[in-house]
Amino acid sequence: MMYNLLKGKRGIITGALDQNSIAWKVAEKAHEEGAEFVLTNAPIAMRMGEINALAEKTGSKIVPADATSVEDLTNLYIQSQEILGGKIDFVLHSIGMSVNIRKKIPYAESNYDYFMKGIDVSALSFHKMLAVAKKLDAISEGGSVVALTYMAAQRTYPFYTDMADIKAMLESIARSFGYHYGLEKKVRINTVSQSPTKTTAGSGVKGFGDFFDFANSVAPLGNADAESCADYCITLFSDLTRMVTMQNLFHDGGYSSTGVSDEVMKRLGIESES
Ligand SMILES: NC(=O)c1ccc[n+]([C@@H]2O[C@H](COP(=O)([O-])OP(=O)(O)OC[C@H]3O[C@@H](n4cnc5c(N)ncnc54)[C@H](O)[C@@H]3O)[C@@H](O)[C@H]2O)c1
Repeated sequence: MMYNLLKGKRGIITGALDQNSIAWKVAEKAHEEGAEFVLTNAPIAMRMGEINALAEKTGSKIVPADATSVEDLTNLYIQSQEILGGKIDFVLHSIGMSVNIRKKIPYAESNYDYFMKGIDVSALSFHKMLAVAKKLDAISEGGSVVALTYMAAQRTYPFYTDMADIKAMLESIARSFGYHYGLEKKVRINTVSQSPTKTTAGSGVKGFGDFFDFANSVAPLGNADAESCADYCITLFSDLTRMVTMQNLFHDGGYSSTGVSDEVMKRLGIESES
């Protein structure tokens, strides 16, 4: 679908690791909708080199940046404005990593060095991206910033361990910064709470496959895939949502509002009495 929703807009897209990445789909859609943007990822993630194919496909440049480094992020905004020829209209934060999850450490036994690392990479990086942008006045008035999150910030999913707390912080930063940046520059900041999605980060979570099927059988529309998530992000970058800010927006096929579904009841062997 092409509506030119982002025609003339300049962006920064983080987190495209491979074709499964949500950010990869956002980049493809943003390109289709007429945006120009810079792709960025941690220098270490670039070694695999897959991002080059995306850059070629979308006619974009790559500026490596570790999202935990204020210095790297400063360089990212300066370079991006030079490359794109002006202030930035939209930013996607699509960065998440928990060492505790990777090492399959149960929540109550969380290693605190790993916990701090997870906070820095997955939540504080969002504050840093916003703080650097604000300091450099790098985002244009009415610009839109979106970060991806998960519903474990509101309800407990035991296997999501420390990322639950980290996502709660991420969502809080969107509200807090959304106030300050909104007041000053009308910059909008929202989080999109996405269904379980088959990506590198997603599949790292213990029992992901079974949980993916469970969520799919709860949500009346089924799980939202990466492509539909990208479509939703595009609407948030567009001017059509110019008054939406400081929100956590569920993009999950109705999962978050469903208590139980007939399908789950059936699977449990509980038949309807009527
Ligand atoms: N996959 C899911 O089930 C799911 C569900 C809801 C929300 N999300 C969120 O979506 C976002 C994107 O994840 P994804 O599922 O597309 O997986 P992904 O593994 O493709 O993307 C995660 C990205 O984070 C990047 N990253 C890690 N450390 C970094 C650092 N220090 N600096 C810069 N970049 C760094 C990785 O290189 C990678 O590109 C994450 O915030 C994730 O928590 C994912």
